[in-house]
Amino acid sequence: MNKFYVTTPIYYPSGKFHIGTAYTTVLADSMKRLHLLKGEDAYMLTGTDEHGQKIEEKAKEQGKTPQEYVDGMAAYAKDLWAKMKIDYDDFIRTTDERHVKVVQKIFDRFMEQGDIYKGEYEGWYCVPCESYFTETQLVDGKCPDCGREVKLMKEEAYFFNMKKYADRLLKYYEEHPDFIKPEFRKNEMINNFIKPGLEDLCVTRTTFDWGIKVLKDPKHVIYVWVDALTNYLTALGYGSDDDSLFKKYWPADLQIVGKDIARFHLIYWPIFLMALDLPLPKTILVHNWVTMKDGKMSKSKGNVIYPDDLVEKYGLDSVRYFLLREMPVTQDAIFSPESFVERYNFDLCNDLSNLLNRTVSMVNKYFEGNVPSYNGTPNDVDKELEEFCVQQIDAFEKKMENYEIANALQEIWTLISRTNKYIDETMPWSLAKEDNKEKLESVMYHLIENLRKIAILIKPFMNDTADNILRQIGIKDKELKTGDSLKQYDGLKDIKVIEKGEPIFMRLNPEEEVEYIKNLMKK
Ligand code: ME8
Ligand code: MG
Repeated sequence: MNKFYVTTPIYYPSGKFHIGTAYTTVLADSMKRLHLLKGEDAYMLTGTDEHGQKIEEKAKEQGKTPQEYVDGMAAYAKDLWAKMKIDYDDFIRTTDERHVKVVQKIFDRFMEQGDIYKGEYEGWYCVPCESYFTETQLVDGKCPDCGREVKLMKEEAYFFNMKKYADRLLKYYEEHPDFIKPEFRKNEMINNFIKPGLEDLCVTRTTFDWGIKVLKDPKHVIYVWVDALTNYLTALGYGSDDDSLFKKYWPADLQIVGKDIARFHLIYWPIFLMALDLPLPKTILVHNWVTMKDGKMSKSKGNVIYPDDLVEKYGLDSVRYFLLREMPVTQDAIFSPESFVERYNFDLCNDLSNLLNRTVSMVNKYFEGNVPSYNGTPNDVDKELEEFCVQQIDAFEKKMENYEIANALQEIWTLISRTNKYIDETMPWSLAKEDNKEKLESVMYHLIENLRKIAILIKPFMNDTADNILRQIGIKDKELKTGDSLKQYDGLKDIKVIEKGEPIFMRLNPEEEVEYIKNLMKK
């Protein structure tokens, strides 16, 4: 059986997660479900990135110890993912003992191998904030956090020798065209960071405590990336007494990250793996950001939207659909209350929900709910619909293989529209009047069969909606719900739809709902 290991970044728990951050997780969950549908052994990892100075400060603000603070945030994250029905298999926290111990071992090994050396870190230091900033992070030459004066300071620190691996990395990129998706991200890495000369990475700090200590030099705390990136390994038991999961699932098949952390995952991460003599993940997928009409989401702008607020009001699947459908491969997605309501009303209500409703009611009206069986000699119109369906499934699969998620969903919606149009073309109500039973039977069969396929296609992305459709059209047999069964067109027998169709999405009043969402953003 094929295995499929998919990861999200581990989230930094410095506050509530907005819909942008939820995008990565919804996508990873959808990819896992897609592979489950193919009958594969799919395994998904997510978690929280709990160390660092900012967390230490957050905890202090709330009168908590850092551990108390991160315990609360990890519980919050798990609760949010439960609301969004994220089917993860493991949730790693960087404060887990299983992680801490192995990170220390890895750090030791890097030191012994000469990959990590002791040097001096120089940067702009803000004394009240106890933080270093790079030249480019400063705002008008002052601290970007508090606006006060900063001074150039030096301290002892450890560095990872990245330069040593630069050529090997370039060669790896070249020989593994699937390693980075989409491809333009690879060129960004090469042109912006590798060609100009890769800088060594500072991997420890001495100015704060809340982190994993270097065993051989405990005044140093391992700072960020050696701690964070190795979670993908430690979660599988790498370097521990029981590494059976590691043996089974590594290398990862798909690691999903947002564009802001592309550099760390496309340069430092493969280099760490090379230094550990481990195989690299098959694909790292970099996605863009969910933004707002006025740019980045931020609390100070008052334009932040949280996924749980939307889910509570509009249901989970509409939120999942919106996120996945709105993110183009090469551009940021824009969330607006108007576009959310529009997608809901057009794509989900008019196209999908109506197709189901019209179909269920016609099968009830003309055949007392019994779906006629396939007649074996489809006429030209039906044949064309069958071919169109095959073509769309094919297009969907090709787009998914290339991780063009939004485009893949669009292919499904093209099939939904075509199927709605088929009703208008064949005019079942006229066929019924003319008593053209054979044609009418064939039309009902094709509608149900297309709906069944549409349900299977959307299932990884909108699990509950898919199950709901399958239930309403009377598909009970497991064999008729698999990815494999997408290929057949003649397998429905003794199927009965439910007596009265239940709308899966009800039309929203645009003015009212846009207002409602705007208020959520101000909250
Ligand atoms: O980066 N739209 O954690 P994080 C889409 N701890 N994605 C967004 C987004 C937006 N508006 N804002 C953030 C970290 N993200 C590190 C990762 S992994 C070893 C360590 C994405 O909580 C972001 O790109 O700041 C990242 O993929 C994820 O949310 C978590 O971000
Ligand atoms: Mg971030």
